[in-house]
Amino acid sequence: LGGRTIRQILAEQQVGDEARVQGWIRSVRVQKNRTFIDINDGTTTQGIQVVAEQSVPKLAAGCAVQVDGQLVDSPGDEQPLELRAQHINIVGECDAEVYPLQKKRHTFEFLRDWPHLRSRTRTLGAILRTRNEAIQGLHAYFQEHDFLQINTPILTAHDCEGGGEVFRVVGSGEFFGRPVYLTVSGQLHLEAMAMAASRVYTLSPAFRAEPSQTSRHLAEFWMLEAEMSFVTELDQLMDVCEACIASTTKRLRTRMPDELALFGRWIERDLMKRIALLAGDQERSYARISYTDAIEVLQRASVAFQYAPVWGAPLQSEHEQYLADEYCRGPVFVTHYPAAIKPFYMLADRTASMGTDKSTVACMDLLVPGVGELVGGSLRENKEAALRARMEAAGVDPAAHAWYLELRQFGGAPHGGFGLGLERYLRAVTGMTSLKDLIPMPRATGQCHA
Ligand code: 4AD
Ligand code: MG
Repeated sequence: LGGRTIRQILAEQQVGDEARVQGWIRSVRVQKNRTFIDINDGTTTQGIQVVAEQSVPKLAAGCAVQVDGQLVDSPGDEQPLELRAQHINIVGECDAEVYPLQKKRHTFEFLRDWPHLRSRTRTLGAILRTRNEAIQGLHAYFQEHDFLQINTPILTAHDCEGGGEVFRVVGSGEFFGRPVYLTVSGQLHLEAMAMAASRVYTLSPAFRAEPSQTSRHLAEFWMLEAEMSFVTELDQLMDVCEACIASTTKRLRTRMPDELALFGRWIERDLMKRIALLAGDQERSYARISYTDAIEVLQRASVAFQYAPVWGAPLQSEHEQYLADEYCRGPVFVTHYPAAIKPFYMLADRTASMGTDKSTVACMDLLVPGVGELVGGSLRENKEAALRARMEAAGVDPAAHAWYLELRQFGGAPHGGFGLGLERYLRAVTGMTSLKDLIPMPRATGQCHA
């Protein structure tokens, strides 16, 4: 494996041991007859300090180095160990004059121009590791609860959300004989697999040609989607959704203490409070409120919203913020939105005035303080005739969804599921404001250089 990582050295070796440190130089400080070199290899938050007695030509920030030496007690309290260098080998040179990452703190905007280099910085490096651990945590939850991981397709004939925000694949007509898109969601395919394997999930990329260019939207993002058969109550879905978030968040707290401490110190002061809310430390579970009640709450609120809250309209982010940050002061599921503003596949609430403009669907959005919408999900319409009617009302062509309708014809069990945006989740547990900093190579409007 080419030697130990810095994390392994710090965990497995001790004072007096010979060690070989390999990584990229963060900074070089020359003092009298000693040189202090900060090195990190992306496996830890701090990296390791190397002390050299000799002067080394060409040694500069950005260089890739291999340093052999002896581990000694570190006089500083940030680090238990440092390395007294015996031999320094520059294996990848770097011209410090033009290297964009200097020792000072750079803004995240500045770093976005260097997506190929920025993960060497402390914060972006910590984000990579937190992202990795969050993915592990989500997989662990679903694997432990008998869900089967499904690889859903990227190329698809459907616009699952019906939002028209699909990227059309050029040349697909010549190739497939019809237009094909990059998937906006794996849900429809996941529903098919749920009709065979009962509980399924996927963590896959999703693509949206989003018209809204905010810090909360990416053109390419990753979504955890789960789908369960034999589920008849929205509460069951919300229980699973809450449990997978709580267990993943607890795992981050145990396994990523340095990273979370870094975010808490530099990115958001109140981070640990939100993490406690997500981890479910409080007695009660996440709040649950219907859309209709939420609208009433918003109308009673003594806040001058830019958009007046009215029944029938989607919640604006200022409304979502008020509900999560002010009214509930914690994560809140908003349920039973008007059918007219939700996709065709959602199960209609039979009690509510069906077919009128007051009809609602069995859906839920999870809103989180400081983040807004983190999850969207619903029970699915599992009766063929009703689904066909919903499609027609939504202007979705039933003929183009024949296979999806057949799932209802051939043993269509009641079912439901949800989708959680991975970068939105990372926003919640890091406090970072832009999703562009939570995915290694962001794709958004005008941004796909590499
Ligand atoms: O609410 P959405 O659109 O729901 C679906 O796609 C359903 N088919 C999911 C399902 O039931 N299986 O998206 C789900 C989540 C959102 O709550 C949000 O967290 C995230 O995906 N998301 C985005 N994240 C980043 N950039 C975007 N453009 C996003 N659009 C949605
Ligand atoms: Mg949504």
